[in-house]
Parts: sequence; structure tokens; C-alpha cells
Amino acid sequence: MCGIVGYVGNETCHEIIIGSLERLEYRGYDSSGIATIHNDQIQLRRAVGKLSDLKTKILDEPVSGTIGIGHIRWATHGGVTEQNAHPHLVNSEVAIVHNGIIENYAQLKKELAEKGFSFSSDTDSEVLAHLFAFVIGQGLAPVEALKAVLSKIEGAYSFAVISKSYPETLMVARNASPLAIGISDNATIIASDATAMAHLTRQVIYLKDNDYAVITPTKVDIYDVKNKPANRQVIKVNVSPILLDKAGYKHYMEKEIHEQPDAISHTISAMTDIHGRLSTNLEAASLTKIRGIVLLAAGTSFYAAQIGRYWIERLAGIPVVCEIASEYHYRNPIASHQTTAIVISQSGESIDSLLAIRHAKKMGLDTYGIVNVVSSTISREVDKILPTRAGPEIGVASTKAFTAQLVVLMSLAISLGRQNGRLDEDKALDIHQKLLKIPGAAGKSMKLFNSVLPIANRLKNARSCLFLGRDTLFPLACEGALKLKELSYIHAEGFASGEMKHGPIALLEEGLPVISFVSEDEIAPKAISNLKEAEARGGYIIVIGTQSAVNTIDFASDKIIIPDCEPILTPIVSAIPAQILAYLTASEKGTDIDQPRNLAKSVTVE
Ligand code: F6R
Repeated sequence: MCGIVGYVGNETCHEIIIGSLERLEYRGYDSSGIATIHNDQIQLRRAVGKLSDLKTKILDEPVSGTIGIGHIRWATHGGVTEQNAHPHLVNSEVAIVHNGIIENYAQLKKELAEKGFSFSSDTDSEVLAHLFAFVIGQGLAPVEALKAVLSKIEGAYSFAVISKSYPETLMVARNASPLAIGISDNATIIASDATAMAHLTRQVIYLKDNDYAVITPTKVDIYDVKNKPANRQVIKVNVSPILLDKAGYKHYMEKEIHEQPDAISHTISAMTDIHGRLSTNLEAASLTKIRGIVLLAAGTSFYAAQIGRYWIERLAGIPVVCEIASEYHYRNPIASHQTTAIVISQSGESIDSLLAIRHAKKMGLDTYGIVNVVSSTISREVDKILPTRAGPEIGVASTKAFTAQLVVLMSLAISLGRQNGRLDEDKALDIHQKLLKIPGAAGKSMKLFNSVLPIANRLKNARSCLFLGRDTLFPLACEGALKLKELSYIHAEGFASGEMKHGPIALLEEGLPVISFVSEDEIAPKAISNLKEAEARGGYIIVIGTQSAVNTIDFASDKIIIPDCEPILTPIVSAIPAQILAYLTASEKGTDIDQPRNLAKSVTVE
């Protein structure tokens, strides 16, 4: 998974392309590169490492030109080397950038090698460059060249191509990987998403799967899968460039943790109906149709799904299963008892989640998406979106999108329970009133940065950590462990507190950090006695909960006290100290918080 950018217009474009690549760094950051056409020559610069390494290279070896393409890579085929970085240039004639995977690349590579083409990288993408060099070499004009290449390749892709023979033309195409075309007065820009061009234009065309386009400074000609000219709508997108700054914070993640009071309250507002009730705003007929749900998601969004399952089953009595998106369609699920599939995704671009919801649709289920990026592919493909209003999330580790997802899931549970009569209006109103206090509690939680710091300092030297919780706090324990491991590279696992004694307790040894979420509910005494078992075996016990929930746990070495909140809503508030703990531990260790190693914000490969 990678990010691609292209520009054709009146201005010298390398800085514009770099500016857009900066906004795509969430998609990967192993290496990057740029190719422009200047004085009838393709100029290529590539660098391993962060985008700053490419910028340094361009300072040393400047480029120019008013047409160009750029790429930021997250390695799939081939290691992190300059040879494998994009753009791929062939015969000084054609340069391409590609996001996705060309699935039949091995066969194509063999055929091209037999024709005498020699390859300089280990990537699947390089076959694209050779194919274009071949067809353009045979005299095909851009539209014909695209048609010829697309008839040969299989897989998921979005790509952009420039050729010395057509120095004012960008050739682009997409299938399953995202691609947006931005229209401004003096130029056309293409990018993997609209945010990458938010500083340049808000007028955007989204290509459909299998579309391709030939773009010159004055024209965008789009063709569909049947090679017929296609009329795709220009949409005005709403992405403010200001939202994408760090606003004085050291990291996007720190900023996004602090944005949670807003993200939660905006999402609550979006989930409020014209009568002022908490609601998904789905029509009664749609709600009545939902009799069994499959929640599909990956990573942090999957843990939100698991918390949502407890709420929906408890408040609405509707059976819910949660499926890891990447597993779902490959195991031919039986969905006869389900009517509705709901995919949860911050980016709306995770390919696993996209393929899972497509499969659900194919099986005849109604499809909904709890999505943060409303202009994303998933948003466009589901029957209806229930948007989270977290705003752009740039830090690789998800924070505000997660708490916003929980708000939507709670609203869904309430809407469904109210509709089927399982939840009376008073109880719904009571939860709504308590939810309205959560933005305030989230605001107060920011003070925890000070009290959590000494704990993070102790944790930074740990080799391994356990996170525990019961009920809705079990998925939260998994989320806490995910946050810590992805940011600080400390091995961490989340377990249901009651499951410890069935095996994981063997891991306990003197000083092993055991971080437990506790709530003030009927199950709390059981969670506390599970914790006591860990303490008896030498665990370094850290508890996270409200003052009254952790009051009796006098054997804990450290307590992280969250603001008072209703037990059913504890996962939303307790998520924040888990994020802060992971953030500060990583900060104390000195790891790269916004761009942890080997990760990418949005995973668009299987
Ligand atoms: C972890 C994290 C990932 C994402 C996962 C799904 O902090 O951010 O685990 O949650 O890659 O991404 P979305 O929600 O964009 O589909």
C-alpha cells in the first residue's frame, strides 16, 4: 500500500507533488520518489526512508517541469531499497507510480523478459512501466496504450504514467485502489485521496473501478470498463487544510488524543435526531429490517466492533457476530440468520474491510458503514453510512476515530432497542444524558498526561505487558495492548480477565506489568479477584478506572483514575488513558510515534 500523486498544469510542480505526498505519508513511508518531464527528459529522484530524505535529495539534485508524478511507498513486493522505490523508469521513456498489487506480474514479467526487457527492481509494479514502454514504443497513443495495458493486468491498482512521447499527458487508471482527480483553474492533480490535494482544490472526481483517464492541462477524458467515454461527476469535498496541521502539538497522535472531546461531541450531534434523541437517523423500516448483524472490521476498528456487540445485544437484544475483515469472505460464511452487515473503518479504504463488505453485499445482506472518511471507497459502496465525525486522523495509531466509532455503535444500539421495544424511552434518555457528559470527561482526561508519565517511564523498559478486562473492557484491553505494541514495540497482549487462569497466567513473573481496566459494575469483584491472582504471582499491577471503581484495589502499584462516568460508557473514557499510556511510553522510549516502523495508516493491500 502506497500513496500516489500526479500533476499536469502551468506551474513548476515538484514542490506541489511533495506537498501532496506529505499528506499521504499515512499510507506508508518506507521510501518515496518523484519523476517530472523537463526539456523533453524524464527527471527521476528516489530515496529510501522518510519524505525528508527525498526532499534533501531534490535540494542536492534539483528537478523542474510542469508535469510529474510522485509516490510514497509501503513495501509489499520487494524490500525497502532505492531500486524498489517508485517511480519506475524504463528506457528513459516512461515513468509510472502504482498503488496496489499486480497479481499476474510474474507471468507478465516472464513474457516481457522474453521480449528482451530487463528488470531493475523486485516489485510487481515495474511490469507496468515495461508494458507502457512497449505499447508506446509501438506507436500507441495514450488512450490506446492504457487500453492495451489494462487488458493485460489483473489485480488491485491505481496508477499514473508519464511518457516523454506525450510530455503534456498524464495517464491514470484504477481498480479497487482509490484514485481521485482534482480540478483547479490551472492544473489537474491526481492523488490517492482528496486530502492530498486539499491545499490545491476541493473539486474532485472519483474514478470508478476499471475507469481510466487521459489528462492534459486543459482536459480530463475518462473511459469506463467498456472503453466508452464516461461522465463522472465533479464533487465538492469538504476537507480543511487547517485540520491537517499539528496545531502546536509535537505529534499528530498527541493532537488527535486532545481532539477527542470535539470528536465525541460532533459525533453525538450527528447521531441526534430532529426530536433531540440519540439516534442513527435510520428510518423505522430500515431499523426493523435489522434482525441479525455481522460487524466487519480490522485492527482498532475491530475492537470497537467487539464493544459494540455487547451494547447491541444488551440494549436491543439483536444477535451480533464480529468478524475480522481479512478472514470473512475467504471462509464462505453462512449468513442466513443475518440481515445486515456493518463495516467499521476509519479510513474507509482498508482493502480487507472493503472486500468483506462487498462479499456481504454479494450474499444479499443490507450494508452499512461506520466510516470516518465520508469520501472514501467504503462510504461510496455501502447502502448507507453512519459517519463518525472525528475529522481527519493522520497519526498512524487510531485514537479519536475509535472513541467516535463507539459513540455511533452506542447510538445504533439505542436506536435498535427503541425501535424493537426492548429499550424504553426513559432508559434511552438516561444513556443519552450520560453520553452527553462524555466529551467533558474526555476533556478532563487530558490531565492524565501528567499522572501517567511516571508509569510510562517504568513501562518503557518492559519486555512484555498484559492488558486485562472483563465484559466491554475485554476488547478495550486488546485495544490497549495494540496501542502499546504498535507505538513502543513492547510485546503486549490483551486477555479477558477470567481467561488468564486458562493459560496466560503462566507468563506471569516478578515485575511483569499487568494493566487492568475496571468498572463499577456487578462483574467488577470478579475482575479484581483475577487481578489478585496476577499480583500473587509477582505482577506489577496497574489499574485504570474511576476513583470508586479502583478504591478497593489496594494491592495495585499504580492507579490511573479516570473522570466519573456511567459503567456502560466506561470503554469510551478508559480508552483515553490507554492511548496516553502508549503515547508516553513510546515518547519516553524515543520511537517514531506518528509513523511507527512497518506500519501504514491505511492498509490497501490484502
Ligand atoms: C491501530 C490502527 C489500525 C486500524 C486498522 C483498520 O491503531 O489504527 O489497527 O484500526 O488498520 O483501519 P481502518 O479503520 O481505517 O479500516
